[in-house]
Amino acid sequence: MKGIILSGGKGTRLYPMTKGVSKQLLPIYDKPLIYYPLSILILASIRDILIISTPGDIHLYERLLGDGNRLGMKFTYKVQDTPRGLADAFILGEEFIGTDSVCLILGDNVFYGQDMTKMLQQTMQNKTGATIFGYPVKDARNFGVVEFDDDYRVISIEEKPSNPKSNYAVPGLYFYDNRVVQIAKNIQPSPRGEIEITAVNNVYLEMGELHVTLLGRGMAWLDTGTPSNMLKAAQFVEAVQHRQGFYISCIEEIAWRRGFISTRQLINLGKELQMTDYGQYLLSLATEV
Ligand code: TTP
Repeated sequence: MKGIILSGGKGTRLYPMTKGVSKQLLPIYDKPLIYYPLSILILASIRDILIISTPGDIHLYERLLGDGNRLGMKFTYKVQDTPRGLADAFILGEEFIGTDSVCLILGDNVFYGQDMTKMLQQTMQNKTGATIFGYPVKDARNFGVVEFDDDYRVISIEEKPSNPKSNYAVPGLYFYDNRVVQIAKNIQPSPRGEIEITAVNNVYLEMGELHVTLLGRGMAWLDTGTPSNMLKAAQFVEAVQHRQGFYISCIEEIAWRRGFISTRQLINLGKELQMTDYGQYLLSLATEV
C-alpha cells in the first residue's frame, strides 16, 4: 500500500501565520504539524509516501524530510498548483499509486489513541473497497458527515451540511483500493469548485463497498485549522509527553519500532538533535534495548 499526505491548501483561517509559510510546517508544540499525519502512515507500516504541496512550499518539505532514506522510507514530492480539492490527490498521484491501493491522510490531521495501530491493521485487511472513519464531534457542520439508518448502516455522506444528520464527522484519513484513481478522475467539481472526497466516498457507497469504522472516545482527533485549535492541540501534546514521558508522533521512534531503521541509525538521528529534549528522547530509546 502507498501513502499520500496532502499538505497544500491556503490555510486562510490561520492568516497571517500562513501568509509566508504552509500550515503543515507550523509547530504543534515541539514538531512540525506534518509529523503527526506522517507518523500515522509509519504506524501503518507504509514506507512509500507521496507528499503534495503548493509550488511555493514543496521545496520546504523536501528540505525538512528529504528522500526518506534516513527513516528507512521513500518520500516523493508533487506540486498541486491550486487547491482543487482533496480528491485531486489521486489524480496528481496516479503514477505514484501505480497498481497499488492507497491511504490518504490530510497534512493537518492529528490522531492519537491507544488503539491506533490495531485500528490501522484491521483496516488494511480490507483488500477491496474504501474505508473511512466516523468520529463523534459536538458540531459536525464543517465536515463530511455520515448518515446511518437504525441499524447503523451508512445511508449517505454529506459534505458540510447545515443540518447534520448525525454527529459523526469523517476525519482526514481514508483507505482506498486502486479504483480510486479512475473514480476521482470522473468527479465533477462541487458548487464551491472542489473535487470533493465526499463524492468519491459516495461512489464507493453506491457500489456497496464503503466501510465506515466508528472511532470511540479513546481516540483523540484534533483540529488544527484555527489559532485557538492549534494552541489546544499543542497543549494536549505537551501535557501527554510531560506526564507520560512518551512522545506523540515521533517519526524516528516509530520508524525504529517498525524496524525501518536500526538502533545505530536511531542513535545517529538522536545525536543530530542532542541539544534538544527531542534528541535526548531518541537517545534514551536506544538504551531501552
Ligand atoms: P482545508 O482545511 O479545507 O483548507 P486549508 O488548509 O487551506 O485551510 P483554510 O480553510 O484555513 O483555508 O484543507 C484540509 C487539508 O487539506 C489541509 O491540510 C490542506 C489540504 N488541502 C490540500 O493540500 N489541497 C487541497 O486542494 C485542499 C482543498 C486541501
